[in-house]
Amino acid sequence: MSVSIDQLEDLVDRSDKLITGLKKKIFTPTGEKQFQKLFKISEAARLIGRHPQTIREAEKQGHIKAERSEGNNARDFTLEQINSARKHFGSERRLGRDEESSVLAVQNFKGGVGKSTISVHLAQWLAIQGYRVLLIDLDSQASSTSLFGYTPDIDIDPDDTLLPFFEGQQRTMHYAIRDTQIENLSLIPANLSLYSAEYLIASNHDNNPIYSHLPRGIESLKKDFEVIILDPPPALGMLSINALVAATSLLVPMPPRMLDFTSSLQFFSMLHETLESIEADLGRAIEYDFVKIVASKKKQRLGDEKYARAEDDILEIAREMAFGDEYMLKNVIYESSAIDNAANKFKSLYEVDGKDARTKSFRSAVKSMDLVCEEVEQEFLKLWPSMQGKVKDTEEEMA
Ligand SMILES: Nc1ncnc2c1ncn2[C@@H]1O[C@H](COP(=O)(O)OP(=O)(O)OP(=O)(O)O)[C@@H](O)[C@H]1O
Ligand SMILES: [Mg+2]
Repeated sequence: MSVSIDQLEDLVDRSDKLITGLKKKIFTPTGEKQFQKLFKISEAARLIGRHPQTIREAEKQGHIKAERSEGNNARDFTLEQINSARKHFGSERRLGRDEESSVLAVQNFKGGVGKSTISVHLAQWLAIQGYRVLLIDLDSQASSTSLFGYTPDIDIDPDDTLLPFFEGQQRTMHYAIRDTQIENLSLIPANLSLYSAEYLIASNHDNNPIYSHLPRGIESLKKDFEVIILDPPPALGMLSINALVAATSLLVPMPPRMLDFTSSLQFFSMLHETLESIEADLGRAIEYDFVKIVASKKKQRLGDEKYARAEDDILEIAREMAFGDEYMLKNVIYESSAIDNAANKFKSLYEVDGKDARTKSFRSAVKSMDLVCEEVEQEFLKLWPSMQGKVKDTEEEMA
């Protein structure tokens, strides 16, 4: 059988129809994605940073709002209600005067190690904690954009991506920022067209250094966000180099498997070489606030499975003989069907509710993701003394 180019075009149309059909079936009746999760008072109190009793009082007096279930006295809170309550109590997570927002690149040149999965979960988790977060999808495969419910080549126009900025048609990146279903979380989406930015930057059409575009664009956005997360493509191209120079910290997902392990080591060596030559060009040192490896997609050892044991061995060697706590997060992200199932519905774990959210495997996947996000937050907090104070106040309030 031969397939002509026209037939290939037909295949593209059919794939678009498939995705549109799937989305209609999976999403809410309007076809729009919504964040419908309700938080119980204990969780809401922790997120707001006030004792449950203080929250109940404020709700009784009409200062803050909650959802009341009929027939019982329980209160549930939407994320919007939690954010209004944060405003009421002045417990929003905002940087102090002299504190700088963090730009975290989730990077590894190896494909499929969990970069986009971690970027989206971390961005959502931080936004739910109350930080203002921007996720920038720099990969033309647009996995992060898809996890926000968009079909990149149907819902996203090339002009919605960073392409016009790299073309020099837009001076800042503000035009590309869009709200998401999660309050406090913004997204700059990607689609296939972003690939041409690789050539544009390399052709050096505007005589600016090839690594200077994204750092300049990000600089003017910094004041609006506590955290900016970059999800670059899995290769050492122009967009990745821009991400590495714009970043103030790096998170490197690494599955504890021999091939991923060796390519992660190559990543560090390429990173070193690349940054060394950029430093020479810049005439100043490039410094990260932190560089952390996170073991990702690790098989959970339920019995005596050989593969899981081999992964444990690699992880132990990586931690004890090579990276230690200085360069490696204590917590790991386990491989979990819950993550894959959620991704199949264009969702993160944090958007899953109903009976899917009550399974043991779901709860353990969320727990491992939460612990990793908390550990990354701790790294940010080391940079933000005024925020540390707010977190401490919350802990005292809840004690
Ligand atoms: N912890 C996990 N458990 C199960 N599946 C996972 C996990 N992390 C990622 N995946 C799945 O693995 C695949 C690749 O993940 P992801 O897209 O996050 O990797 P990536 O490093 O961003 O890939 P790329 O290099 O192509 O950008 C996806 O199908 C994703 O759903
Ligand atoms: Mg990716």
